[in-house]
Amino acid sequence: MQLTAIELPYADDALAPCLSGETLQYHYGKHYLGYVHKLAEAIAGTPYEDMNLTEIVCSATDEPFFNNAAQAWNHEFYFHCMTPEPKASADGTLAAAIARDFGSFETMCAEFRNRAAAQFGSGWTWLVLNDTSGLEIMTTDNAQTPLTSGLTPLLTCDVWEHAYYIDYRNDRGAYLGEFMKIIDWDFVAANYSAIGHSRAA
Ligand code: FE2
Repeated sequence: MQLTAIELPYADDALAPCLSGETLQYHYGKHYLGYVHKLAEAIAGTPYEDMNLTEIVCSATDEPFFNNAAQAWNHEFYFHCMTPEPKASADGTLAAAIARDFGSFETMCAEFRNRAAAQFGSGWTWLVLNDTSGLEIMTTDNAQTPLTSGLTPLLTCDVWEHAYYIDYRNDRGAYLGEFMKIIDWDFVAANYSAIGHSRAA
């Protein structure tokens, strides 16, 4: 299987002013593509060469393989979590599940943002579906991902400094405020419904 990089799902300046074209150019073109290219080089001639990206993330224990594979996977997921045409909130069965597990959409968003703001160092903040079909918010350090814990990612925010430093310098809170405005709730809902989960609140 040939490891291929995804295209950015929108123009690199389409998320401005929340995220500038320069941020997306560096984030996608330098950071994400860097992980993909390093992984492609590393897996050549190894058993990982025949796996898809998710399989590599879930089976690689050696750090060079895992870190580059997980960072590639996390970034592909992150780029799809944002859209130039966002809805104001989640709807349908996802909205019902959020209300069931957090009380309200606004409470879930506030908790997500607070967890992301409080996260120490580099990593990722996630909304996931756990093994009892409940929604929860979690954080992972560096390249770590909920995939390796058997959890289903629904939404993520990259809180590595490279995600926001060009636009917001050290003000992660400002970045998070803008990120929350451009979440693709249809993508989050599709991740939720993709696993056949239909329990309503
Ligand atoms: Fe990143």
